[in-house]
Amino acid sequence: MSLSAIAAARPETAIVLGSGLGEVAEALGVEAQVPYAEIPGLGAATVPGHAGRLVLARVNGRPVLIAQGRRHLYEGLTAHEVTAGIRLMHELGVRRVLLTNAAGAISEHFQMGGLMLITDHLNLQGTTPLLGGPHFHDMSQVYDADWRTELLAAAQELGQTLHQGVYAALLGPQYETPAEIRMLRVLGADAVGMSTVPEAIQARALGMQVAGISMLTNWAAGLKPQTLDHAEVIAVGRAASQDLAALLRAAL
Ligand code: HPA
Repeated sequence: MSLSAIAAARPETAIVLGSGLGEVAEALGVEAQVPYAEIPGLGAATVPGHAGRLVLARVNGRPVLIAQGRRHLYEGLTAHEVTAGIRLMHELGVRRVLLTNAAGAISEHFQMGGLMLITDHLNLQGTTPLLGGPHFHDMSQVYDADWRTELLAAAQELGQTLHQGVYAALLGPQYETPAEIRMLRVLGADAVGMSTVPEAIQARALGMQVAGISMLTNWAAGLKPQTLDHAEVIAVGRAASQDLAALLRAAL
């Protein structure tokens, strides 16, 4: 399957799947796929738990483009590089993108393995894909209010709890210290991760509608006696993938 064949389906909606959430693509039904390695500018995804391919799925009869696996700043890439996929989606005619990730829960109101609809973000990564321009882009409504209402309604219909909150993005690749988590809480963060924000900024700057969903795979550092483990983050993500797939099927 080639990229042009996927483009020919004219998907208007795209989904980016984060760590351990790759199985959501299978659950939605893979119609066609192209490995990132075969797409100029995207290269191979290098993090365990990331399949690294562009998938065409059909959700409720409509074509949906799925980026299964993403690149991260902590791989040593620039914010411009990690957002190449968003610009490609835009070129293919995608008008709205739903970004997903695995995140550590900071708010004590959250359930482990639950989903959080991102209402806003804190960019604490020290960079942005807009370096060099366009300058001074408005970011007062990154996560589309109407799309959020639709996602909340879909979750309610399914009887799913969909938490809401602010996502803080740090550079990584190490997890946070307990002191950093206390700082993030003071700053207004409800969940913490290492992705999504560059893509959200790039997509907004291109005029795309953006939504974000975090899967709460662990309690952030210092909130529980356990230490953090990437394998556990992936395992919890897998277990909750079916919930996310059901929500996306109902909402798209
Ligand atoms: N911190 C940062 N990134 C993460 C976490 C976390 O606790 N869990 C999953 N991704």
